Amino acid sequence: MTSKMWGGRFSAGPSAIMAEINISLPFDRRMAAQDVRGSIAHAEMLAARGIISSADSKAIIDGLGKIERELAEGKFPFKNALEDIHMNVEDRLKELAGAAAGRLHTARSRNDQVATDFRLWTRDAIDKLDAELKKLQATLIDKAEQNAGTIMPGFTHLQVGQPVTFGHHMLAYVEMFGRDRSRLADARKRLNESPLGAGALGGTSFPIDRTMTATKLGFARPMANSMDAVADRDFALEYMAAASIIAVHMSRLAEELVIWFSPQFGFIKFSDAFTTGSSMMPQKRNPDAAELVRAKTGRVIGAMVGLLTVMKGLPMTYSKDMQEDKEAVFGVADTLELCLAATTGMIADLEPVSARMKESAHSGYSTATDLADWVTQKLGIPFREAHHITGRAVKLAETKGCELCQLSLADLQSVEPRITADILKVLSVDAAAASRTSYGGTAPDNVRAQTKAARERFLGETLKW
Ligand code: ARG
Repeated sequence: MTSKMWGGRFSAGPSAIMAEINISLPFDRRMAAQDVRGSIAHAEMLAARGIISSADSKAIIDGLGKIERELAEGKFPFKNALEDIHMNVEDRLKELAGAAAGRLHTARSRNDQVATDFRLWTRDAIDKLDAELKKLQATLIDKAEQNAGTIMPGFTHLQVGQPVTFGHHMLAYVEMFGRDRSRLADARKRLNESPLGAGALGGTSFPIDRTMTATKLGFARPMANSMDAVADRDFALEYMAAASIIAVHMSRLAEELVIWFSPQFGFIKFSDAFTTGSSMMPQKRNPDAAELVRAKTGRVIGAMVGLLTVMKGLPMTYSKDMQEDKEAVFGVADTLELCLAATTGMIADLEPVSARMKESAHSGYSTATDLADWVTQKLGIPFREAHHITGRAVKLAETKGCELCQLSLADLQSVEPRITADILKVLSVDAAAASRTSYGGTAPDNVRAQTKAARERFLGETLKW
């Protein structure tokens, strides 16, 4: 049997393998709601412009309304034989609305139709993702507030650098996810133009109103070039690029959770809700959710690279290669949704082991910078020289097998005689953290103020960026 939609010049149907490679319904059925929305806008416009009668338009829109309900109730009769979602909806419309259905595709091609549906779907995905990121930020901000004064080591090269607060560390991620949200908002602006009315590639001779359909579908304006409208998928790529950065941010956080949860670090505890056991080693408690968030980043980046590779050799305008865009984007959206839920869950669930964090913050001569800063500020010695003096103090502590704050005043004076008893106040990890009051610094008072500011910037009605 030839295709009902495009089979006019064909005398035989496709081979089974042709049908199998061609069919997109199993995945593009996820755009069914968007396809119906697009068709309703198109039918309304066709009638408004006198291209079809209002009776036909009404029959079409009523039929599409029924299809909407069937979809919502899971009763829509999807048929693989009809290749894709667009032909499924149109075929069902014919059953429900009769002959009028045949007028819906006037001045439209599946090329502008699919571009429209897919933009609508991706826009919905961006909005959902933004809401999920906001939830994660809220959870991180809560943890930060509870731990504004919880001292932990701050690392560079995964070597202890300076004492910081756990709240400060949580807020670092709040900033990252905030930038991610603003990146999505940017991508959304560029995505939000309507391809509908571009036709197959060159526009149409019918007197359509592209601004009307654009407005009805919530787009800012119609796309300016009909060839570009059907040929490009940069909106999908941009979404996946933003998604990849989000996944990388989540993966880094997940990696930290794995490290912190290891018995060697012992910085955090998880409840049974976010850990698993080992089938062989009864003592084990593994942070599988964090490991999987870390791992699934590979899928997201892979999908983006996959579509970039599909697109890179395509001549203008539409090629069937582009049908491969959807699974990539759908997979990214599903993966991020799951990973964000798991990450938000883990952050809410985790409990910092503050005693262990603090003990660890003491190690590795973490207040060496404070000693050097004190020598510079109080003795007026240039920082480079102070750095050397401190280096000698660290060496002395090393030979004595103790931490900097455990050196006696006499020890410190043996390194630099001008040092006074005042120094003993700055070498504790609490004092070190509390002293970093510069804008954006780790002092507990700063962190308290920053959690408040973060709530205003990120958790209000609109993102303030
Ligand atoms: N299923 C197709 C896709 O996703 C719809 C567009 C088909 N266009 C065409 N000229 N065959 O790309």
